[in-house]
Amino acid sequence: MERKNFNPLVSSSRSPLGLEIISAQGDFLFDAKGKKFLDFISGISVSNLGHRHPNINDAIKDQLEKHSFVMVFGEYHQTPQVDLAKALIQITPANLDGVYFLSTGSEANEAAIKLARRYTKKKEIISFQGSYHGSTMGSLSASGNEKRKSAFRPLLPGFAQIPFNDSHCLKRINKDTAAVLVEAIQGDAGVRIPSADFMKELRGRCTEFGCLLIIDEIQTGLGRTGKMFAFEHFDIEPDIITLGKALGGGIPLSAIIAPQNILSSFQSHPELGHISTHGGNPLGCRAGIAQLEILNGEGFLNSVDQKGEYLRAELEKLPFKEVRSKGLFFALEMNSAEEVQKMVSNCLEKGLITFWFLSNPQSFRIAPPLNIEEENLKLGIKLISEAMQDL
Ligand SMILES: Cc1ncc(COP(=O)(O)O)c(C=O)c1O
Repeated sequence: MERKNFNPLVSSSRSPLGLEIISAQGDFLFDAKGKKFLDFISGISVSNLGHRHPNINDAIKDQLEKHSFVMVFGEYHQTPQVDLAKALIQITPANLDGVYFLSTGSEANEAAIKLARRYTKKKEIISFQGSYHGSTMGSLSASGNEKRKSAFRPLLPGFAQIPFNDSHCLKRINKDTAAVLVEAIQGDAGVRIPSADFMKELRGRCTEFGCLLIIDEIQTGLGRTGKMFAFEHFDIEPDIITLGKALGGGIPLSAIIAPQNILSSFQSHPELGHISTHGGNPLGCRAGIAQLEILNGEGFLNSVDQKGEYLRAELEKLPFKEVRSKGLFFALEMNSAEEVQKMVSNCLEKGLITFWFLSNPQSFRIAPPLNIEEENLKLGIKLISEAMQDL
């Protein structure tokens, strides 16, 4: 018997936003009733050039006319994958000359953890309290939010989390450590920016003990913080970078970037050490190339910084407890989780999309498209101010 109003789609929470979005263009989403929403989070840092950017759309359409999927990643020579890999190693430190494509951020971290164990022949993976590295068993084992982990124990052995931005605790890294996995700026902990000294000491400690420094740039990478990668703010170089979210311009795509001699560990003992059917989707690769051309354009990253500074100055005029930001990645701290909930829903009512953080209920995020129109940036600030007045 047909159940009236039955929706078989199970949502990931009991209180999803539930917007029925039927189209999107530039900085805006449109719902089924024609209401317009300014996307001030870029779909959690995926739609970093807004929605339906013409260059990205054209690249996807052109590739669609050729092929959209032909074979599991790595078996065929596919020009979109080769071209995106070449474009990526142009923007990373010189020793990172190898790229391995996957499809989600969790999967990229999962593979990076396996790679580090395989390459170093050591077991221990150290990461940081407050971090978020994904929802699969390995990436969850590395994540630092106990509340999100405890229901799924036992998780993987050989993982430990230490306090973030606390140089003293780096002593925990030792000769048995295979890798340290870190977000150079913690995202879901509420935009936590470590000191340059901490990051340099972390780099030094990894080098000293022969363990790999894996920097998770899944949320912060590709211009979000005003530099191509967040680690560039600290004048250090990683051994491995993981990328996801924005990489495929809205098409699922992730990657590990590492030296070829490390990445090639996946080729033997066992052969096919990490395989991924949908890794390196050619539509995502073409979209990724089109996106990188824009990010590499003269002055683009400077403009992200300038917009970030303007936004920060305006938000600091409002009575937030704290404004934490880098580039166009913001956490706005309030007095309580309840206030945050009310604020996010007030914004939504006014046609502005903001969102909370997984590991910081007292803050909410804003991460507008990097190419947001100036008038839309101003509109967002106005709506935040009005939403705050209605608390
Ligand atoms: C820093 C970081 N790493 C990993 C992930 C997991 O990515 P995905 O949801 O694509 O598996 C996320 C997602 O929010 C993230 O922010």
